[in-house]
Amino acid sequence: MIMIRKVLLFFPKLWYKILEKRTLRIVHSHQGEVSIHGWTHLTPQTVLGKNPNFNGLDVSGKGKVVFGDNFHSGKDCMIITDFHNYEGDAIPYDDTCITKNVTIGDNVWFGSRVIVLGGVTIGEGAIIQAGAVVVKDIPPCGIAGGNPATVFKYRDKEHYYSLKAQGKFH
Ligand SMILES: CC(C)(COP(=O)(O)OP(=O)(O)OC[C@H]1O[C@@H](n2cnc3c(N)ncnc32)[C@H](O)[C@@H]1OP(=O)(O)O)[C@@H](O)C(=O)NCCC(=O)NCCS
Repeated sequence: MIMIRKVLLFFPKLWYKILEKRTLRIVHSHQGEVSIHGWTHLTPQTVLGKNPNFNGLDVSGKGKVVFGDNFHSGKDCMIITDFHNYEGDAIPYDDTCITKNVTIGDNVWFGSRVIVLGGVTIGEGAIIQAGAVVVKDIPPCGIAGGNPATVFKYRDKEHYYSLKAQGKFH
């Protein structure tokens, strides 16, 4: 198996095609093409919009994760939807699991190494800065960074909605 992986790494396009097929077999639903250019793991509870672009994203847990259209992510991103219960009858946590969903609007871009925790909604057109940890909702067109991620500026909304009306999506 390790040998096969090593061989495939010499042929990245073939490797990504295999990854893409595997990923699409797993997800709950998707429409049209999915672009995968990095190690990406999605769950059966994942719902993809049109034209998703993954450069390395690990979705974990049993929570529903809904992506809008034209999603783009950098490398080594994570969406974590399951939490251990630390207020139950064992320490550091008991064997029950708390699951929270994640919703991501259209035209969202994650920089590299973004972490999103369950229970969060990211508005359309938002940008999440590389290395950010998102624990609270991000409004539409918000540009957010840090840990915990906060909005430090907004996209030019007039420009954004004008491009959207013209159907100019990457
Ligand atoms: C989100 C991002 C696009 C914003 O880029 P930007 O518009 O150039 O913004 P800057 O990083 O220059 O920051 C703008 C201002 O916000 C401030 N700022 C940046 N990050 C901040 C944060 N987390 N909290 C508060 N303020 C912050 C900056 O200090 C700067 O302030 P100033 O104007 O007073 O100097 C960029 O930071 C980023 O993460 N890019 C992703 C890169 C990546 O991962 N690429 C991989 C390929 S997908």
